[in-house]
Amino acid sequence: MYKELIRAAVNARKNAYCPYSQFAVGAALLTLGGKIYTGCNIENNAGTSNCAERTAIYKAVSDGYKDFKSIAIVGGNSLKDQSEDYCYPCGICRQVMTEFCDGSFEVICAKNVDDFEVHTLDELIPYAFNLIKQ
Ligand code: THU
Repeated sequence: MYKELIRAAVNARKNAYCPYSQFAVGAALLTLGGKIYTGCNIENNAGTSNCAERTAIYKAVSDGYKDFKSIAIVGGNSLKDQSEDYCYPCGICRQVMTEFCDGSFEVICAKNVDDFEVHTLDELIPYAFNLIKQ
């Protein structure tokens, strides 16, 4: 399943709109029911860019899916087909993941299908603020 998700993220990365950073990111989110939602980063000249992870999460939530198992992320220079480094989610995306996912949610940071790390959301955002659980 990790490899299938990474493959979907690699494909989604091709749609990245990143004329300002030239940093293209693709994400593939797996729902608990087994559906895959993909996303890419979408930049904006006024600085209101949206990350690939949030694009995927918001697409899923707007379709009525709110329970997720994992997300694969692939990012790197848009001129290169292969990512040379792991791309970790930004702070805003980690907080958005916290909104919908529990600490065991898996974040798969991949260079390609054969080279990836798996982290839990708990590892990436310890002591996360969560109003619902206060
Ligand atoms: N970006 C993502 O889409 N996901 C990440 O995990 C890190 C950063 C995007 C935002 C922006 O379009 C570009 O990468 C450079 O920061």
